[in-house]
Amino acid sequence: MAFLLSLAVESEGILMDKICVEDGYSRAISLREEAETLQKDLQAAHRRLHDKSTTKREWLGWLKGATAEKAESRRLQETAEDIRSRCDAFVVVGIGGSYLGAKAAENMFLSPFHNEQADPSQNTPRIYWAGHHLGGQYLTRLLKRLDEQEVAVNVISKSGTTTEPALSFHILEDYLIKRYGKEEASRRIVVTTDPEKGLLKKMAREKNYPSFSIPTDVGGRYSILTPVGLFPMAVMGIDIEAFKKGAEDAFCEYEKEGLSVNQTWRYAAFRHLWYRRGKKIEALVHYDPRLYFFGKWAQQLFGESEGKEEKGLFPVPLQYTTDLHSMGQYLQEGKRHLIETALWLEEAEDEPRIKEDLTEDDELYYLAGKTWKDVNEKAAIGTRQAHSEGGVPSIFIRIPSLTPYYFGALSAFFMKSCALSGYLLGVNPFDQPGVEAYKKQMFRLLKKPGYTI
Ligand code: PA5
Repeated sequence: MAFLLSLAVESEGILMDKICVEDGYSRAISLREEAETLQKDLQAAHRRLHDKSTTKREWLGWLKGATAEKAESRRLQETAEDIRSRCDAFVVVGIGGSYLGAKAAENMFLSPFHNEQADPSQNTPRIYWAGHHLGGQYLTRLLKRLDEQEVAVNVISKSGTTTEPALSFHILEDYLIKRYGKEEASRRIVVTTDPEKGLLKKMAREKNYPSFSIPTDVGGRYSILTPVGLFPMAVMGIDIEAFKKGAEDAFCEYEKEGLSVNQTWRYAAFRHLWYRRGKKIEALVHYDPRLYFFGKWAQQLFGESEGKEEKGLFPVPLQYTTDLHSMGQYLQEGKRHLIETALWLEEAEDEPRIKEDLTEDDELYYLAGKTWKDVNEKAAIGTRQAHSEGGVPSIFIRIPSLTPYYFGALSAFFMKSCALSGYLLGVNPFDQPGVEAYKKQMFRLLKKPGYTI
């Protein structure tokens, strides 16, 4: 399937059957013409990413898409199949970029009731998460829940030293060894980490745990196309080949130069122009709960990539219409420092239908015979109109359907847009020096050797 992403504006009546970005407008101000003034800056940013001779390339591995050798991809699938056939509980341990991509995939492709309904004959184990916070009671309860099940654990940490996953894995490893013995535990633990360095790599070598590598030139929040995202997705039974293909096609498309042909340029340009006009917050909104964790993934991507040197839009994921009943007032009439980027799914699957034969005295008579999507779509268009009239510029991203292919394409779209946005802003989109500050204070308080002042 060829991937194309094109920009269109609703008022021009262009029909869209591809993933599609519509530009932001607010109170009839459109930035399409102004965006042209950014062509040169965008070209410089683009070339900085693609020019192999001059760019420092140590963090740009993600631009190549999924790069594992065939044999390695086969080993990943086989290990996933082994877990699917032997286990009914799969625990993913990780935080930040080592967690949110796989979590977004679970949210998109497994039923929200998957863990309640899991049918062993379907081979997709129940999925549990750990290491993504320091809530201790959660882990106690998780261990109790695991007691009745056959368990496998995938610990994911590029550095191998992040406190939350390290601590949670410490408990889970101990649990597995006590329950199954060392040898059997080593058949139930899979490590995803740096190819050479770090404690986790050392542990995997010493204890003979199967391991997968995160390429050194790919940072956490850009790692969804590495085993960080791919291995848990394979255990969930998601078509990772389609996911990789979607990303590959999209990256290929985004190698083109020019605002009219490269939609990542357009998205980066619009959000940058609104930022320059004083907007401080980007609400990343969606109208389907399957996109909830994709919103969290995109939040991390932009937040950690742009938020530095006192710059950057503050990204806030919101779920509509849910959050219109909690944040709608603020969005419509609160401080005008927001833009809104909406993800809209074109295809509706498996939705209930509203009855045809409602009578006039029924309060919902005006909806008789409509689809669920009709209602949701009018909510989306109406919200966009109301918010833009209220001074919140809106950018609309249409996604044809929520398949692994489009998930791959969308991930590529956001990563590329984010890298361009960081360069437009004049920051390095690949580091996160600020994250260390809280860790230093925490380690000092915990009296970690080397941190006592
Ligand atoms: O994007 C990032 O680099 C971070 O969010 C990391 O993914 C996160 O801190 C987890 O790091 P690690 O994989 O080293 O445990």
